[in-house]
Amino acid sequence: MQNGAPGVPFFIKFCTMNKSASDFYSQHFEVAGFIREVFGYMDRFKGQLFILKIDDSLMDHPLFPVLMRDIALLHKAGIRIIIVPGTRKSIDAQLKAWEIESKFHDGVRLTSEEALPLIEQASLGVAQRIMSHLTASGLSGIQGNWVLARSLGVIDGVDYMRTGRIERIQRDILDQLLNEKFVPIIPPIGWNKLGHAYNISSTELATEICKYMKVGKLFFIGNENGIKLKGLVTGKNTKYLEPTESGVISALDVDQAKELLELNSDILNFAQMDYLMNAIHACEAGANRVHLLSGEFQGSVLQEVFSARGDGTMVYANQYSSIRPANIEDIPANIEDIPDILRIMQDYIAKGYLVPRTQESISEKLKDYVVYSIDNSIHGCGALHAFEDGMAEIAGIAVGANYRKSGIGDAIVRHLISIGRMKGYKKLFLLTTQALDWFYPFGFEDGTVEDLPKSKRDNYNQKRNSRILVLPLEK
Ligand SMILES: CC(C)(COP(=O)(O)OP(=O)(O)OC[C@H]1O[C@@H](n2cnc3c(N)ncnc32)[C@H](O)[C@@H]1OP(=O)(O)O)[C@@H](O)C(=O)NCCC(=O)NCCS
Repeated sequence: MQNGAPGVPFFIKFCTMNKSASDFYSQHFEVAGFIREVFGYMDRFKGQLFILKIDDSLMDHPLFPVLMRDIALLHKAGIRIIIVPGTRKSIDAQLKAWEIESKFHDGVRLTSEEALPLIEQASLGVAQRIMSHLTASGLSGIQGNWVLARSLGVIDGVDYMRTGRIERIQRDILDQLLNEKFVPIIPPIGWNKLGHAYNISSTELATEICKYMKVGKLFFIGNENGIKLKGLVTGKNTKYLEPTESGVISALDVDQAKELLELNSDILNFAQMDYLMNAIHACEAGANRVHLLSGEFQGSVLQEVFSARGDGTMVYANQYSSIRPANIEDIPANIEDIPDILRIMQDYIAKGYLVPRTQESISEKLKDYVVYSIDNSIHGCGALHAFEDGMAEIAGIAVGANYRKSGIGDAIVRHLISIGRMKGYKKLFLLTTQALDWFYPFGFEDGTVEDLPKSKRDNYNQKRNSRILVLPLEK
């Protein structure tokens, strides 16, 4: 979310923006839809572990306390949280204050003996500030040395001195702390068995945790608001990526992330490359989803977690959105989908766009329905009902109010048309009062009652006077 003054609740803004009664009611529907969506996600994420790597460049931003408060809300919703502070800015400032030059090789800091105590001080200082904010939001943060590390050594003749690599993460202790509702804050410092400290990378640390613990989501929260599609070279796997309204790639799978990295090494900036590389590693190590998002926008984390429409970029390890039939082979059919189908249709039935349906009427024809799900939540539906004379009807196309204009309706109709072809129907038809123009681009043409199969013709509701569209499938 890119709008809103700090602290103004999203739904109050929503309700007070417009004045006309119909706008007011439609906003109520949208708010109700939004709240339902939040509850759906809350249920799913309860008990899951989220790792949040938060850049210290955000700490002086006016919205930082709001970000911390949003994290406290996640925790209150039952999500287990570990925070890894990004410390680059504070370390650079600390070294500069002591007139020590910050040196990097391939993006990795070279840590001299004299720099190490300053780096430790800066890193622990950042963790301490995060802990203060968490305390102010009612959470118990806790810092500790739970990372075993060893020297990175000398690579290709470059001595990394006191820069370390992660050897092991003390998972048992972290599990125990999480069970006791603490929020562990792990600064990027690791210790070897002799107690010698090493400077490690925060990004690597956040990613490495995914190897040791079952992680639902990993967040990289900084100043970067997702990856913009424009200007990037795309290939076989990425040519159909759709940007959001703000131009950001909202979701891509691991193969697509690899392809973008490969084709755009000269175009992506360091933070984006670093994110994509680590997102791929984290997914391969077991994380489900890895998000890149900006902490500079009001509610960005909540939006990303509790809706499928955040403005960040997400790399995902498994299936993210799909069309699937609403029924499964088991008997009874998947009746769990019916409340969702009814919920999506309900607003449009109330407005007269769709003919009324009931639990029973959907249940009777459930095998005809398909649903479109994102992250296992249903956001669109449609049906293909068989009729005599080789004809079938496309019906009940509906997309949840918060998900319109995302290509979901388009995907459902194309899917139903392809099912129609597969099943060998000669002609598809549909009845609509409000979406005439929307259906023409699929190839539908104006028809009359005479074009309908007899059983449909006999039941045609003259009073409703729906327009009839037909799509011949025969060549
Ligand atoms: C019609 C509907 C299914 C489209 O779903 P969707 O996922 O928003 O559609 P898409 O994202 O594929 O397409 C969006 C485009 O269609 C346009 N569009 C949406 N509804 C439209 C309508 N009723 N008439 C004409 N164009 C429409 C949008 O303005 C948008 O245009 P843009 O891309 O130029 O911005 C959805 O708006 C809906 O559920 N409507 C209410 C129920 C309904 O009328 N169903 C059809 C009767 S069977």
